[in-house]
Amino acid sequence: MAFLLKSAHVVDPVAGIDGIVDVKIENDRIAEVGENLSADGAEVIDLSGKVLVPGLVDMHVHLREPGYEHKGTIESETRAAAKGGMTGVCSMPNTDPVTDNGVTVEYVKSVAEREGHCRVFPAGAMTRGLKGEIISEMGDMVAHGAVAFTDDGHGVQGAGMLRRAMDYGKMFDKVFMSHCQDDDLVGEGQVNEGVVSTRLGLLGWPAEGEEIQIARDIAIARLTGAKLHIQHISTARGLDLVRAAKEEGLPVTCEATPHHMFLTEDAIGETYDTALKVNPPLRTAEDAAAIIEGVVDGSVDAIVTDHAPHAAWEKAREFELAPFGMTGIEASLALVNTNLVKTGKIGYARMVELMSIAPRRILGLDPVSIAAGSVADITVFDPEVTWTVGAEGYESKADNCGFAGTEVCGRATDVFVGGKRTLCDGVVC
Ligand code: DOR
Ligand code: ZN
Repeated sequence: MAFLLKSAHVVDPVAGIDGIVDVKIENDRIAEVGENLSADGAEVIDLSGKVLVPGLVDMHVHLREPGYEHKGTIESETRAAAKGGMTGVCSMPNTDPVTDNGVTVEYVKSVAEREGHCRVFPAGAMTRGLKGEIISEMGDMVAHGAVAFTDDGHGVQGAGMLRRAMDYGKMFDKVFMSHCQDDDLVGEGQVNEGVVSTRLGLLGWPAEGEEIQIARDIAIARLTGAKLHIQHISTARGLDLVRAAKEEGLPVTCEATPHHMFLTEDAIGETYDTALKVNPPLRTAEDAAAIIEGVVDGSVDAIVTDHAPHAAWEKAREFELAPFGMTGIEASLALVNTNLVKTGKIGYARMVELMSIAPRRILGLDPVSIAAGSVADITVFDPEVTWTVGAEGYESKADNCGFAGTEVCGRATDVFVGGKRTLCDGVVC
């Protein structure tokens, strides 16, 4: 199959392109990039007015399969990913059974191969059953294609446990991704500890509960030499700790979500909207501004969603009983375009770095570029179209999106994964 993608505004800082050029795809690769390319039998797609970038990768996604298919499946959540413009996702291991061995990694990969709408790069658990007690079967998981280790959803409580996991696992040269949460301090915390938790009468989840583990995990990365990636960073002081680690030259990176940048604890208001119950919680306006500042100055490496589908009945319960997590993969490109690019905080080149290049680099995946010879993983979006999140429903099985009702600007129109079209004029195909 061959496609000639005509007249898009191509942005790829790695290839050094920021202008209107044609891109020709032949089979799974980019065959040619240049002006006025001839079709020679390829299907011509006019992309005037659209932006074309190296395929986006969301490195923090909960696909829920195996075990929680009532929340989402590999089919439904990769469908949502394609709709959001993603060419790949890193799947989290808090499945049932937990993805803590090679067989389960193999299962996720094979279902994704058969039913998926984008590439799936499974992360394996750091500890068996996410219990923080025994190291998982890391070598077995890597042999079956795991790209990273994480106990996401939980902080590893013991510093010695984390040290043993890193000391042993670093031989596989994979990144350790930390969900930072000190259970003893956080307890049953529901929302950020402060004015809002007090006013709503909900138990507080203090910033320090996250920051203590960020500081500790950086210390253990220093001790072991393992690569550390801080997941869904949500506090200003936490980000300062990452900045200091980077200045020291440690192999430390971090990610931020749209909800920790563009929503605050104040959004919970008087509604007790359980879609806004996330872990770590929405923080203060000062924290959100600091995370955005980190995206601008380079301290934040990647933008991810922590896309966390839950069944409607689970989220319909009282705030304390509802599970943590919101969906977001169908809106993240639009939210970044609206809140960061259209406001002039970052340009498209930085957006590509945050949503395509850095996630691949951190996960050790093959790089993708808009250049002849590269694998044809490509995202195309209309940067001007406005739409309302959730107004037409979702591709995801779940609808617990904290941005529902928000007017946004920009939407993926076409996606190619290995030269195959997975999104066709806004429709998953
Ligand atoms: O809000 C969250 N939901 N944070 C996590 O770390 C886990 C996730 C989930 O699995 O639902
Ligand atoms: Zn997490």
